[in-house]
Amino acid sequence: MSAPRDRLRIAVQKSGRLAETSLDLLRRAGLSFRASRDRLFLFGDNLPIDVLLVRDDDIPGLLREGSCELGMVGRNVLDEQSLATPGVVFPKVVSTLGFGRCHLAIAVPQEMPWGSPADLEGLRIATSYPALLAAWLAREGVAAEVVTLNGSVEIAPRLGKADVICDLVSTGATLQANQLREVATVLDSEAVLARTPRALSPLLAELAERLQARIDGALSGAQVRLLMLQAPRSALADITRLLPSRQAPSVMSLDGQPDQISVQALCHRSLDWSHLEALRQVGARGLMVMAVDQVLA
Ligand code: PRP
Ligand code: ZN
Repeated sequence: MSAPRDRLRIAVQKSGRLAETSLDLLRRAGLSFRASRDRLFLFGDNLPIDVLLVRDDDIPGLLREGSCELGMVGRNVLDEQSLATPGVVFPKVVSTLGFGRCHLAIAVPQEMPWGSPADLEGLRIATSYPALLAAWLAREGVAAEVVTLNGSVEIAPRLGKADVICDLVSTGATLQANQLREVATVLDSEAVLARTPRALSPLLAELAERLQARIDGALSGAQVRLLMLQAPRSALADITRLLPSRQAPSVMSLDGQPDQISVQALCHRSLDWSHLEALRQVGARGLMVMAVDQVLA
């Protein structure tokens, strides 16, 4: 038995669609790192939190066996592996991260006619997501042959290995380059923060919660803007009604001018020029909008 670790580990994709944004989010959560020589490991400088750079498909397994406590991974990868190994306790999704949106889709050769999923009956479908595909086929009541491939799924029809494919689509460029068209969605996916199903030591549990709160805070910071303005007190009801905000604003009297107020409100990021113009119409002035980097509820 090795000694229990005293540094938290979070796994992120080494290269691929999620890699860049995952590391960026960790930086926005206030972490800084030094890279190891082999570039497989980033050593946390300012907190006892290290980053493992791995293949996305390896992240659910690393979480399950407890080699890392947290991981940023596509929901598609997590769902595929948990469906493929029923009865095994799986990592829990603790946050959705709002990036890496894509979907797992059925795509057919450009010239193939398409009416409904029933058209797949008896065909060979190439995919790297056999469990998700099989579950979808069962739900649709279609009997088709699932051909499992580890990569380059999009060229399977041209190679004669399959008739159609089931693959992730993000921009659609890969399908287009391979003269395929998307006809049905099997799963919508995005990046999520997943946590090991194993019990953590008090130290690692505390670090995990701290990092989760910081990640949530960095994400919600991107969702809000801080609005400041001044106005006659009599305009407060109108101002509150116009704010794109669910929280009550903070209201302060101006020094020596009890009928004048200063208002601060955390607004939805949809706050724009037309809101400001409408607020000015009802008496607000000195309007200022600021970006919010960090939020700790
Ligand atoms: C997916 C999929 C396609 C590509 C589609 O791979 O297998 O190759 O992305 O993206 P597009 O619609 O923008 O062209 P992914 O990046 O998830 O890599 P992996 O399957 O090798 O992990
Ligand atoms: Zn992958």
